Amino acid sequence: MNNAPIGIFDSGLGGLSVWAEIRRRLPDESLVYYGDGKNCPYGHRSAEEITRYAIEAVERLLDKGAKLIVVACNTATGAAVKTLRQKYSIPIVGMEPAVKPAALATRSGVIGILATKRSLESEHFQHTSSCYASNVKILQSEGRGFVELVESGDCNSKLALSTIATVVEPMLEQDVDQIVLGCTHYPFLAESIRKVVGNRDVAIIDPSPAIAARVEQLLVRDNMRAEKGHTPYYEFISAADEEYVAKIKEFATRVWESNYNHK
Ligand code: DGL
Repeated sequence: MNNAPIGIFDSGLGGLSVWAEIRRRLPDESLVYYGDGKNCPYGHRSAEEITRYAIEAVERLLDKGAKLIVVACNTATGAAVKTLRQKYSIPIVGMEPAVKPAALATRSGVIGILATKRSLESEHFQHTSSCYASNVKILQSEGRGFVELVESGDCNSKLALSTIATVVEPMLEQDVDQIVLGCTHYPFLAESIRKVVGNRDVAIIDPSPAIAARVEQLLVRDNMRAEKGHTPYYEFISAADEEYVAKIKEFATRVWESNYNHK
């Protein structure tokens, strides 16, 4: 048993999609969330730079006593998870592009992956995609402008719809029936993506429930779960200013209240 918090980080608000799934699945666990905010977006930065920011994030989370770290950012996972695992001895969970469930579920044989430029170029993504490329056609597209929409709280506007349409419509024209959200910011655009998809039978796949399941698996494996009935706390920190911390908190509360807190 271990009542220390789980540390979760992302370039900004996106990792809150993973935070919410972990909170739902593991209600006894305290969570400390680090949203960089100062260097967001990561999507166009070099792997070296992202690795530096990821180390800063892990150090801050370790200062908070984190017992396990979740890299709730596909871009940082692709750029830095190997280095982090070499450098730190505590368990580190990274994001997995959900290509496998999409490849298993597709009927048209065409799946789409939306992610940042850096993620799509990463060895991690390339490797996962190549494992399935012989069975299905994989269309990869950068969600250009998507992270900025989420960070500015603009998830359902006309601008959001047209930004998404520019990227998603070419996929639909090529008959995709599965769209994998390969960036933790994108689940917050799911409603608008759904509008662009219209009445076509297309599944939108968010990998965050699988990440929460992996966190649970590791805590059980290492006998590190919080005690049953332990009262958890939720803390938010950032490389940016207090205003950004307030923004993370407000976003987290909204996400939780509107999507998860249906007790
Ligand atoms: N949320 C991130 C990801 O999963 C990073 C997006 C960005 O900062 O560009 O890739």
